[in-house]
Amino acid sequence: MTRLNRRQFHQSLLASAAAASLPTFASAEATPILNARVSSARLAPAKYPETRIWGYDGLTPGPVLRARQGERMTLLFRNDLPQASSVHWHGIRIENAMDGVAGMTQSAVEPGADFLYDFALPDAGTYWYHPHNRTYEQMARGLYGALIVDEATGAPEVDLDEVLLLDDWRLTDEAQIAEGFGNMRDWSHGGRIGNWITVNGDGAWARDVPRHSRMRLRLINTANARIFSLDTKGLEGWVLALDGMPLEAPQPLGDLVLAPAQRADLIVDVIADEGEEAFLVSVESDGGYAIAAFPVGGAVRQERLAEPTALPPNPVPALGDLGTARHAELRMEGGAMGGMRGAMMGGQMTDMRDMAAQGKVWAFNGMADMGDTPLIDASRGETVRITMTNDTAWPHGMHLHGHHFRQIAADGTLGPMRDTVLMTRGETVEIAFVADNPGDWLLHCHMLEHSAGGMMTWLRVS
Ligand code: C2O
Ligand code: CU
Repeated sequence: MTRLNRRQFHQSLLASAAAASLPTFASAEATPILNARVSSARLAPAKYPETRIWGYDGLTPGPVLRARQGERMTLLFRNDLPQASSVHWHGIRIENAMDGVAGMTQSAVEPGADFLYDFALPDAGTYWYHPHNRTYEQMARGLYGALIVDEATGAPEVDLDEVLLLDDWRLTDEAQIAEGFGNMRDWSHGGRIGNWITVNGDGAWARDVPRHSRMRLRLINTANARIFSLDTKGLEGWVLALDGMPLEAPQPLGDLVLAPAQRADLIVDVIADEGEEAFLVSVESDGGYAIAAFPVGGAVRQERLAEPTALPPNPVPALGDLGTARHAELRMEGGAMGGMRGAMMGGQMTDMRDMAAQGKVWAFNGMADMGDTPLIDASRGETVRITMTNDTAWPHGMHLHGHHFRQIAADGTLGPMRDTVLMTRGETVEIAFVADNPGDWLLHCHMLEHSAGGMMTWLRVS
């Protein structure tokens, strides 16, 4: 070891002090920016023009944001859209102030302004982000992206990890996004259903894969209102997680239904022969359509891998006693063929015609707007039970912010943990969760025309 004179000593001290503080300086200065702006994308085949879209970083889907469980996500959102916006981190059990609900947890970010999002990532899994201001328009224009949180430990070994964002677009003959976002026929029926399906913004998404390779497919339904019924060909595997949350045991993959906002993590093995194609198939009323193709190359291994084990569980608190849980009922009404005659709006009983004139065609518990009082005012840590009855002629995908819930079957068995549950017409669904996240949280239909049209309420946890 060489001796240092006094000056050298000082310099090396300074140098090491600077080195120690470098990461903080670097990350403070290099806060990543997520910029929403008008752009264009090739959604349709080459004979059509490109489509004018709104995208995060000018892309649709936006960039895949990725971090490790236990880390923080820090992002400066900059709004270069011609409309105010915000970013909601769907499915993240997030601090309330970072939930991104314009008009509730923050003010909308005006054009030219920015907002710093900084939040912890308690759970591993497949999540996503999207605006929460005029969501029915902004998402239909292309604003959404995946947020992937990698397992701190125990991630399954796969050859390929693919994020597949499924969307449907309503395009004109010139492949431009059809206006008419406020179309009351869409709002009172099944929502804005598109005429062009893409995977990762591509109408013919494809990826070469070797035979016998194992993929983790992270499917995210980012459509405004379309329910995807999915099937596969030439792939065989398991569902490992729903809405980000691991299942207790992998479930063999059969038909898979994803309501808007729902996700599924699959592990699939490529079983098609070399030279064939494997597919992800969207099952429509008139048959199956391949929406993602996997041309199969030479085998990576002689035989298929062994069955995967479950993903490591996320630290979600276990439900308390359901018998003494705080309970609320949520009756969902309205829409076309629903027979609703009117509902409360701004404290006034309003008939259906006047409601529709103000863009409201649905109601929760007889109210077509959020109201000043929450559906439930829970104390922190309390177990909450909500019985939701779909008294309409349409399916709905009910989404709770800030928490994951479990569905309680009629016989008392608990379903998987989810943040969005699909309810068919006439169905009653009971959910329960531990209200451990303080703040005001939305509970709404994720068919975006339905939530804008009145299917929205809120809970308070204090
Ligand atoms: Cu993904 Cu309130 O939404
Ligand atoms: Cu709905």
